[in-house]
Amino acid sequence: MAEPKIVKIPQHVAIIMDGNGRWAKARGLPRIMGHREGMKSVRAVVECARKLGIKVLTLYAFSKENWQRPREEVSFLMGLLEEYLRREVEELHQKNIQIRAIGELELLPRNIQALLKESIKKTAANTGMILNLALSYSGRAEIARAARLLAEACLRGDLKPEEITEDLFRHYLYTNDLPDPDLLIRTSGEMRLSNFLLYQCAYTELYITPTLWPDFREDEFLKALEEYQRRERRFGKISEQLN
Ligand code: FPP
Repeated sequence: MAEPKIVKIPQHVAIIMDGNGRWAKARGLPRIMGHREGMKSVRAVVECARKLGIKVLTLYAFSKENWQRPREEVSFLMGLLEEYLRREVEELHQKNIQIRAIGELELLPRNIQALLKESIKKTAANTGMILNLALSYSGRAEIARAARLLAEACLRGDLKPEEITEDLFRHYLYTNDLPDPDLLIRTSGEMRLSNFLLYQCAYTELYITPTLWPDFREDEFLKALEEYQRRERRFGKISEQLN
């Protein structure tokens, strides 16, 4: 098959990496093996996104709700994250990738918090792709946090309620200096947002594929981008108004 030609590159791609458990179950393996295989997809997609010149890649690696999973699964996922940060940050750094994280990071184990801080600091001046990891993340919690910060600013007298606009609000989100996602990919066929980037995805194009995350590699990513470039983004306008 000929390689798809990607000419319209989205600035920001966000991914809900779903289906690791089902991938493992279908093979009679424990769920954690699906997560391990899913790491290979993370590597493949990060590299492909970087090569294509995507500016921001946000990966939903662990939701706030995921803390409710069995303890062994949570600690396995934390272990994978630790392994990723220990083994791969140097290479990501060499490739000029800037690492960031969004979510309630203070809930993560202390060693992960320290490793994250170190990785973020080390790559802070990089000018290539931003790899944004959503960890212990909840879209509603992010919106509630922004409202809290705004209320505090009003109480301090730094801000008047009438000055709160959509644009000001976004500055209080974790993603304050990032563009909204142009494309949200969800693997494994589930038709939901699962509390991911709720404010930011107002006009994001959705791409949902039945492919399970461990099977989602470069070819599948290119397919998603190919589909994205066929979409007409009207932002509420009509076709004729677009230039
Ligand atoms: C969803 O599949 C996947 C997760 C909850 C974890 C995703 C994590 C990784 C791919 C590895 C860690 C990532 C980084 C960036 C270090 P699921 O378990 O909900 O699958 P299921 O719906 O089939 O049960």
